[in-house]
Amino acid sequence: MKIGIIGLGTVGYGVVEILTNEKERLSKAINEEVVIKYGCGLEEIDLPDGIIYTKDFNVVINDDEIDVVVELIGGTTIAKTIILDAINKGKHVVTANKALLAHNGKEIFMAAKENNVHIFYEASVGGGIPVLVSQKESLVANNTKEIIGILNGTTNFILTLMENENLDFDEALTIADGLGYVEANPALDLDGIDAAHKICILAQNGFKKFIDFDKISATGIRDVTKIDMDYAKKLGYRFKMIAQAKEINDGIGIDVAATLVSKKELVANVMDAYNVVEIDNDYVENVIYYGKGAGRYVTASAVVSDIIKTSQIERWSHDYEDCTNIYPITKSKYYLR
Ligand code: HSE
Repeated sequence: MKIGIIGLGTVGYGVVEILTNEKERLSKAINEEVVIKYGCGLEEIDLPDGIIYTKDFNVVINDDEIDVVVELIGGTTIAKTIILDAINKGKHVVTANKALLAHNGKEIFMAAKENNVHIFYEASVGGGIPVLVSQKESLVANNTKEIIGILNGTTNFILTLMENENLDFDEALTIADGLGYVEANPALDLDGIDAAHKICILAQNGFKKFIDFDKISATGIRDVTKIDMDYAKKLGYRFKMIAQAKEINDGIGIDVAATLVSKKELVANVMDAYNVVEIDNDYVENVIYYGKGAGRYVTASAVVSDIIKTSQIERWSHDYEDCTNIYPITKSKYYLR
C-alpha cells in the first residue's frame, strides 16, 4: 500500500509518526507493506527516511504507484480539487475535512462510487472516536431515530470554564484561545458552524439522506451569560452546545444551539474539550460514544485507521436520497431538553 499525505500540519505529521512507528504491525494486519511515499506541504519539514517531500500535490495524485491519497489541508477549495482529482485517478481517499464533506459530500461520494474507490472520513467527526464506522458497520441492522452530541471541544471547554471558574464568555474565550483551542476563524467554533458540519455528516450517515448544509440552523454560545449560568446551576441544569438531528414527519430536524441539559443526563456531564455522540436506534436503542474530539494523535489515529481500512474490498454505500424538508428543532432561544 503506497500512501501520499497532502498536508503536513498538526494532524498530517501525527499520521506520518504513527504510520512510521507502527509500520510493522500495520503491515502485518493487512498482509501488505504500508509505505508512505510522499509528504506534501507548503513548507518542507524533516520527514523520516524514504519519504519524498513535494510541494506539488499533482505529483502525488499523478503517480500511478499511489493507492491512497490522504487530504489534510482542510478548507473547501483546493482540498476539493485534490480529492476529486485523486478519486478520478482511481485512488482511495482519506480525509478529516468536515467542512468540505458537509458542503460537497454528495458530489464527492458520487465520484467515489463511479470510480469504485473508498472515501473514508472518520477523523472529520469527533476526532478519534469511532462513530462513523459504527454507524456504517456496527449499527447497520438499525434505523437511526435520533442523534445528539457535543461535537465541538472548544465551546465545551469554554462553557466548562464559565461554570467552574465563574467567568463570563469573553474571559473564558481568552483562556481557551491562549491554550490554542480556538480555530483560526473563531466563528466556526463559537457560532456552532463546526458542530453543524459534524452533525450534517452524522445525520447523512444515520438517516441515509443528503442534507443541504445551508439549511441547517446553527447558533452558538456567544449569548450565554454568567446570570444564565447561575440560573442553570440552581435548577440542576448545565449549558451545553448541543448538535442534534431526528426524523420529523416528512423531513429531518437538525440544528446546533446552546441548550439547557439536566445534570441527570449523561451528556451534561461531558466536560472540558471532550466530545460525546449519543445515537438512539430502533433495535439496539441508545449507544453513546465519548472521547477526545481533537488533538494531533487523537485525530491521526482515526486517519491511520481509515488508511488501513482502504485495503478492504467492501465499499461504504452513499446511495442516499436528497432530504427536501430540513427543520430546526430548537424553538426558543435556549432549548430545554
Ligand atoms: N475546533 C474543533 C473543536 C476542532 O473544538 O472541536 C476539532 O474538530
